[in-house]
Amino acid sequence: MKILGIETSCDETGVAVYDTADGLRAHAVYSQIALHAQYGGVVPELASRDHVRKTLPLIRQTLAEAGLSTTDIDGIAYTAGPGLVGALLVGAGVARSLAWSLDVPAIAVHHMEGHLLAPLMDDAEQRAALHAGRAPEPFVALLVSGGHTQLVGVDGIGRYRLLGETLDDAAGEAFDKTAKLMGLPYPGGPQLAALAGQGRPGAFKFSRPMTDRPGLDFSFSGLKTQVLLAWRDSDQSETTRADIARAFEDAVVDTLAIKCARALDATGFRRLVVSGGVGANLRLREKLHELAARRGAIVGFPPPVLCTDNGAMIAFAGALRLQAGQHEDLGVHVAPRWDM
Ligand code: KG4
Ligand code: ZN
Repeated sequence: MKILGIETSCDETGVAVYDTADGLRAHAVYSQIALHAQYGGVVPELASRDHVRKTLPLIRQTLAEAGLSTTDIDGIAYTAGPGLVGALLVGAGVARSLAWSLDVPAIAVHHMEGHLLAPLMDDAEQRAALHAGRAPEPFVALLVSGGHTQLVGVDGIGRYRLLGETLDDAAGEAFDKTAKLMGLPYPGGPQLAALAGQGRPGAFKFSRPMTDRPGLDFSFSGLKTQVLLAWRDSDQSETTRADIARAFEDAVVDTLAIKCARALDATGFRRLVVSGGVGANLRLREKLHELAARRGAIVGFPPPVLCTDNGAMIAFAGALRLQAGQHEDLGVHVAPRWDM
């Protein structure tokens, strides 16, 4: 089955073709970062309009790269939520209309389920097992994006248990806001991480929120305030900015790692997968590799380009749902808020 995936939930237009026999055939992501940068954040109406401009050209480009035409497509998966309602409606409208005209099924995918399953797409053995109808080895998923920070116990496809989540800011949001308050341009998360690479470990020290009590929930908004105070009272030099970035990153990464270890203990699972934009963070990857090695566990990350928003993860999750026999009516439904 060849599935076209369309992602338009926020500020990235993502399109991909996923083949249940051969894996990912082609994918393309167009980022609207430059469009929103001047406003310091995503402007929903501009996002929708840009998706309108980009979705069809990206579909053409992706099909050409895969050496396929529309008539080769067996189904279309699209992100139906959560996300910006206007942006979601663009992808849903295109997906539904195209599916109707090609007489193939369209399937609504939960954005976070896309992130959650993305690491399995990159694992040939797991992929083959899933398409043969076998359940994956149960795993703990750490979903860390700009909008979510969740630990989920995955007992099978569609069988998800929320183990813990953030009570305020998401990890990526904390990266972005912290970067902003130290004067880095939007979106600051990846830039803050790059700066942290130049900082001296231990020059500043921030807390590891909510690790001194049991439980798997997170809270990152207090860290932001700690950075604000440290930055305000400092000499605000380049060196200090890098040192503070390093201390902030260490605090977030340590906190995530401590909770991942607890989640593995709580579930008894031996497998951890990490996804969402913050999963691209190199120090988080290092730390979780160390943690897994110490415990004889396995940790999996999708390649960084599949950690951030993309159409491939939507095509993959949609393929699994279509293979499981899921069908939908012709209506265009989106859900800006939607529990997984
Ligand atoms: O999953 P994603 O692309 O979009 C959402 O669904 O939110 O995640 C984007 C988030 C942003 O907050 C961004 O700052 C963060 O992921 N991010 C990073 C890194 N790369 C992206 N945070 C820390 N380190 C990185 N290397
Ligand atoms: Zn995302």
